[in-house]
Amino acid sequence: MKALILSGGKGTRLRPLTYTGAKQLVPVANKPILWYGIESIVKAGITEIGIIISPETGEEIRRKTDNGEQLGANITYIVQDEPLGLAHAVKVAQSFLGDDPFIMYLGDNLIQDDLNLFLDKFKNKHLDGLILLRSVPNPTAFGVAEVDNQGRVLKLVEKPKNPPSNLALVGVYFFSPGIHEAIANIQPSARGELEITDAIQELIDSEKIVESLQLNGWWLDTGKKDDLLEANRIILDTNLTINKLGNIDENSKISGRVNIKEGSKIINSTIRGPVIIGENCHIENCFIGPYTSIGDQCTLIDADIEHSVLLEGAQVLEIHQRIVDSLIGQRAKLEMAPQRPKALRFMVGDDSHIELV
Ligand code: DAU
Repeated sequence: MKALILSGGKGTRLRPLTYTGAKQLVPVANKPILWYGIESIVKAGITEIGIIISPETGEEIRRKTDNGEQLGANITYIVQDEPLGLAHAVKVAQSFLGDDPFIMYLGDNLIQDDLNLFLDKFKNKHLDGLILLRSVPNPTAFGVAEVDNQGRVLKLVEKPKNPPSNLALVGVYFFSPGIHEAIANIQPSARGELEITDAIQELIDSEKIVESLQLNGWWLDTGKKDDLLEANRIILDTNLTINKLGNIDENSKISGRVNIKEGSKIINSTIRGPVIIGENCHIENCFIGPYTSIGDQCTLIDADIEHSVLLEGAQVLEIHQRIVDSLIGQRAKLEMAPQRPKALRFMVGDDSHIELV
């Protein structure tokens, strides 16, 4: 059994952050989204992992993730020259996948459930395909499935205008090598992509067995800011360990679950967890409220922030209004002159510099 993680594509919905970086590397609780997927696959006992990358953002993924040894994986990178669809990505990876069954995992998805339960069903029932479903309020934004009462999949449609059900396809799929023939038999969709939903429909139409399971735990498709903040909230709530390796002065108050990495200085500040602070940060005269993740090398002086994600090297200086629900890109700098505006809400890209004067 192998795994294929799709980390190509364009990531238009997280712009401007994804003009300069891969959306799968945007951190949740200071760890790239992609790494959660790798860890979950490794936990299910699969170490041979292919990662689809694009020519634009692939190098950054390679550099950060390397051969996967630190995560217990053996990674092969596969370049997809253009984002021509999820099934196209499988086609490009065919020589890596060979005749093995495999898990296909979308690099911007996060799921709570262990993959083992699904993997056991897939293997024990010798399925040609197993898909995971979740009922959602907005099915038109996803692939949608119609299933019978045994969980057999009858019909799939990609982002339908009139959804046949509210069951969305989660970005984790299990396939036998039969999927390659199905992909060879489909044509690009109206939006010009080879759709994996069409390939699965092709399996169904040729009487292969495709079943579904509904997720029990949470599922997050981190493609948009609010989804990313929600993923950050859930991971900080469930996975954060308390650790205070940084330097905290006696005027600071730390409460709740807080993780502060090496080399960070906390001066005259209040931190109320769950909060994670990366390495070599400078935090002075600040209130850092729940559900905040601060990347390495960030500087916050006279700042008040909660329920936000700051990427590496971001700076927030002299902003006394509370910053909430914000995603602040790498090296972005926010600073303010003494007179105060009434409200602030940010989605700030890498290298930005905002001055409120
Ligand atoms: O998140 C679940 C949804 O993911 C499913 O419900 C849909 O059926 C499925 O088509 C997919 O829809 P999205 O619109 O969210 O797919 P997106 O274009 O965001 O791509 C998902 C991942 O695959 C992302 O990490 C980028 C990568 N990708 C995408 C394309 C189109 C590639 O590596 N190559 C590609 O050609």
